[in-house]
Amino acid sequence: MTRLAGRVALVTGAGRGFGAAIATALAREGADVAVNYRVSAKQAGGVADTIRALGRRAVVLQADVARAEDVDRLVAGTLAELGRIDILVNNAGVMTPGPFLDVPLDRWTDMMSINVMGTMLCTRAVLPGMVERRRGRIINLSSQLARLGSIGRMGFAVYSATKGAVESFTKAIAREFGHHGVTVNAIAPGGIETDMSRNVMTPDYRARRIEELPVHRLGSLDDVGACVVFLASDEAGYLTGQVLHPSGGAVMP
Ligand SMILES: NC(=O)c1ccc[n+]([C@@H]2O[C@H](COP(=O)([O-])OP(=O)(O)OC[C@H]3O[C@@H](n4cnc5c(N)ncnc54)[C@H](OP(=O)(O)O)[C@@H]3O)[C@@H](O)[C@H]2O)c1
Repeated sequence: MTRLAGRVALVTGAGRGFGAAIATALAREGADVAVNYRVSAKQAGGVADTIRALGRRAVVLQADVARAEDVDRLVAGTLAELGRIDILVNNAGVMTPGPFLDVPLDRWTDMMSINVMGTMLCTRAVLPGMVERRRGRIINLSSQLARLGSIGRMGFAVYSATKGAVESFTKAIAREFGHHGVTVNAIAPGGIETDMSRNVMTPDYRARRIEELPVHRLGSLDDVGACVVFLASDEAGYLTGQVLHPSGGAVMP
């Protein structure tokens, strides 16, 4: 499994959830990985240990992706330790579900600044190096909720809007940087159990979802990791501006 041998990846929010699984999946395919976290230092250290046990290099870097100066420090730290960045995975994200009128404004600000600004800031920081080397892979985490505004009666209006913005940004940057050898794609998973989704994925939701989904099962972290590995690989070089939907058929755009 060496589809990414010699590549260097930066994964944001890689201490837990999807980010941890993505970082490990990339390392399993041969990539060295910069493991970013904001507060989950111990978990990020554990992910780096796993990556090193696979024989790859790993560096653990604290940064809040919503802060431009943190992002610049994150990218500089990755370059100093690992030499370059071939793959950026904009995974860091937050979600406050709830009826639109009940979600407090400071939560809107968090979702907009981490999910949208964070993705844009990290992209801005890695692009010059990718353009210079004439190759790069940027993979952004969207969500099935970019297209399904609600699941049952539960509202996700602001979160959905942030992921819609991520998808529009993905396509715009894909167009602007394709001729520099950089591909930019997004992944829009269905509900998969992590800290973020645990409260939403009640036993009721799970049972209903398994029944509704064409594949009759919920997704796993590996389903997401596999999509990232594919989009990061040479085989995916002719795909850009696309959104992959590992959602068991929930979304068929
Ligand atoms: N779970 C799902 O069902 C689902 C479905 C579709 C899309 N997604 C998307 O997938 C991504 C990962 O979600 P998840 O389910 O793994 O969530 P999670 O378990 O809640 O983990 C969120 C991750 O984001 C990091 N993070 C949050 N704010 C950050 C910031 N300002 N700077 C740097 N890192 C930050 C966290 O790091 P710290 O702990 O260090 O703060 C953590 O590693 C998100 O973009 C999410 O919107 C999730």
